[in-house]
Amino acid sequence: MFYPEDLVEEIRVKNDVVDVLSSYIKLKRKGSSYFGLCPFHNEKSPSFSVSPGKQMYYCFGCGAGGNVFTFIMEYENYTFQEAIKYLADRVGVELPEVEFSKEAKEQADLKSKILEINKLAAQYFYMQLKNDSGKIAYDYLKNRDLTDETMKRFGLGYSSKYSNNLYQYFKNKGYSDEILKQTGLFNIDEKKGVYDKFWNRVIFPIMDVNNRVIGFGGRVMGDGSPKYLNSPETKVFDKSRNLYGLNFARTSRKNHLLLCEGYMDVIALHQAGFTNAVASLGTAFTQGHANLIKRYTDQVYITYDSDGAGRNAAVRAIPILKDVGITVKIINMQPYKDPDEFIKNLGKEAFEERIEHAINSFMFELEIMEQEYDMKDPESKTKFFGEVAKKILEFPEDLTRDNYIQAVAETYHVGYDNFRQLVNRVGIRLGGISPREKAKPVKNSIQSKDGGMKESQRILITYLIEEEGLYDKIKDYITPDDFTEDLYYTVACILFEQLKKGEVNPAKIINHFTDEEEHKQVAGLFNTKPKAVETKGDKEKALHETIVRVKENSLIYKSSNLSSGDIVAEMQRLTEGKKMIERLRTLHISLD
Ligand code: CTP
Ligand code: MN
Repeated sequence: MFYPEDLVEEIRVKNDVVDVLSSYIKLKRKGSSYFGLCPFHNEKSPSFSVSPGKQMYYCFGCGAGGNVFTFIMEYENYTFQEAIKYLADRVGVELPEVEFSKEAKEQADLKSKILEINKLAAQYFYMQLKNDSGKIAYDYLKNRDLTDETMKRFGLGYSSKYSNNLYQYFKNKGYSDEILKQTGLFNIDEKKGVYDKFWNRVIFPIMDVNNRVIGFGGRVMGDGSPKYLNSPETKVFDKSRNLYGLNFARTSRKNHLLLCEGYMDVIALHQAGFTNAVASLGTAFTQGHANLIKRYTDQVYITYDSDGAGRNAAVRAIPILKDVGITVKIINMQPYKDPDEFIKNLGKEAFEERIEHAINSFMFELEIMEQEYDMKDPESKTKFFGEVAKKILEFPEDLTRDNYIQAVAETYHVGYDNFRQLVNRVGIRLGGISPREKAKPVKNSIQSKDGGMKESQRILITYLIEEEGLYDKIKDYITPDDFTEDLYYTVACILFEQLKKGEVNPAKIINHFTDEEEHKQVAGLFNTKPKAVETKGDKEKALHETIVRVKENSLIYKSSNLSSGDIVAEMQRLTEGKKMIERLRTLHISLD
């Protein structure tokens, strides 16, 4: 934090959260909160809430949340410092000029430094593209049918033929080798010195959902190897958690995303009006990608390359998407290789039709399976249908199974009754187990991983800020130490200090963090409610269970992390802890 804490807090207090957010979104009062349509994901009924009491917002749909600074950072794509400036201006607070010593500069948040360099590098590459020297790259992109507007929108650029232009540019600006090394933009060679990683390539800046440049891809113009060169992972570039194009796609207001493989596919699709296209950039599709997508939509149309590699990649991505509750369809682009080539040849209307005719992922998986069988050979063909039957039996619902039996019968031209009988026979043969029991249990994202432990800790923190007087009732039992997640612990420490003084101020706690992702997590901590709680009795029961769980977990955590120090003292503490839990079990905590 560059500005004094008190000043930051003054600015926050003067900018009422409801006031500020109302100028961006339509809010309606409901009880003690305001509700509206979330500007950070696509929705039809409002799940975006703003609390004047907490001076925070939180979206129950996508988990976006924070205080007034967070909102401005997210909405305007500002850094924390820029958001402070903006909101200070808004209420006429004057900010002191901040002078940085060399040390202070080096101390300053490494991440924002890398982001700053990335942004400057992207601007530099863009300038080069527009220079005479960049004509070769500009022509290349023009030849690939990109307009000037598209080049600008995606910030495409050119890295010149000279192998240390970019390095010199940053050296002249006074950046240290130390920091430049961490950007992944340079190759460091002990003997030869430092060289630009990208040279004589067309440059594709990779942006995160907040339009911050986190990395780069560079393509050779024409044939050459490697075709694409990409930034390595850095402090700001996590390949398994970012999707190219999502910064634009997230506001496309379509109910689905188009998932493709490459830079050019995304760009060509956006240029043709399909602004909901994103790409996993040739890397394996991960659960991190799926979770990211799930924040915006639960429908994905895969439009990977139509060759074998692309189809295999789709087969691998399908279960990952389905696991987080996303419905998947597959777009057929034959006879073309990828969306870019398809659109170039057949145009956007034809692609629109392909979207309409996209097949369900199950039917796509059957298509892939079919290739392993000789469908002209009756025996092989029968085996295939046997396998299909097994797959259908994995669906827990009768109705779903029947729908698929029908679809398979139609697609593969077999009699519905015949095929249905086959499915039943296979079911009986598999040991008479009813398909319902055979089916894998549905995974519940948070619950399954830590038994809902983190959630319990979040619920307790939410209770503590919402229920006046609760702190006094439980302070002898619960301490910040009982929050086992690092971030939760930090928040608990500050919150307990505030509670002690009787000055609860959740929005102020958020000021302690400068990273938006952290803001979001902290906002989540202040907005987690137990499920199915209606009456006061329910609430007290849920609270009691939560406290016992948090304490128990804390004890288990501590006993599995015994330091090698004073074992006797630690064992004693554990015994005391166990006794405390016994007392807690019988304690009645009222909410009055
Ligand atoms: N890719 C990569 N490194 C390579 C080849 C591919 O990182 N050597 C990634 C790139 O992100 C690329 C994606 O994988 O966009 C898909 O690769 P490919 O289908 O080969 O390229 P296209 O996207 O079709 O690129 P172009 O149209 O420019 O040939
Ligand atoms: Mn291509």
